[in-house]
Amino acid sequence: MSDLGATLWFTGLSGAGKSTIAQIVESELRERGYKVEVLDGDVVRTNLSKGLGFSKEDRDTNIRRIAFVADLLSRNGVVAITAAISPYREIRDEARALMGARFIEIHVKASVEECARRDVKGLYEKAMRGEIKEFTGVSDPYEEPLNPELVLDTEAESPEESAAKVLAVLDSRVKIAA
Ligand code: ADX
Repeated sequence: MSDLGATLWFTGLSGAGKSTIAQIVESELRERGYKVEVLDGDVVRTNLSKGLGFSKEDRDTNIRRIAFVADLLSRNGVVAITAAISPYREIRDEARALMGARFIEIHVKASVEECARRDVKGLYEKAMRGEIKEFTGVSDPYEEPLNPELVLDTEAESPEESAAKVLAVLDSRVKIAA
């Protein structure tokens, strides 16, 4: 059943844990013989979306590009894992409409306060000082998913526990499709 494609669409604030969990899920799936590709926000912005900023228009373009690639991959038997903030519900819903049952929305959830406390990249401090404009959760919106397939509370669970939940959802999809 390892040739059934899907898109694991992670959404959440910067520093919530999207990339960390995506990496664990990626290596676990590879070990199980799945074809996997990760479309990480930071990586996509250095190539596919190079030159785009953080206005709503640019974020929407970024997310539509990621959805386009995830669709190509997932319809060809690959598990595409996306890890971009993807702050706007409407554009995530567009991706869902594009991919239908292959789309699995995963809210990687941590409060702004917790992400700012972690501040892995030092960006929250700058955003709070006003040195970075339009920063998601601080000076730009994040629209939580209303009905995601999965919510991962990264303030309460470890990345390994979160990854195990993602794998369980994928497993149940594969069983239904089998
Ligand atoms: S998205 O909104 O278009 O989905 P994406 O996930 O690609 O965002 O990029 C977010 C990453 O860019 C953050 O993790 C952070 O490292 C960096 N970044 C730089 N400026 C901003 C900003 N204004 N808002 C959010 N993230 C930013």
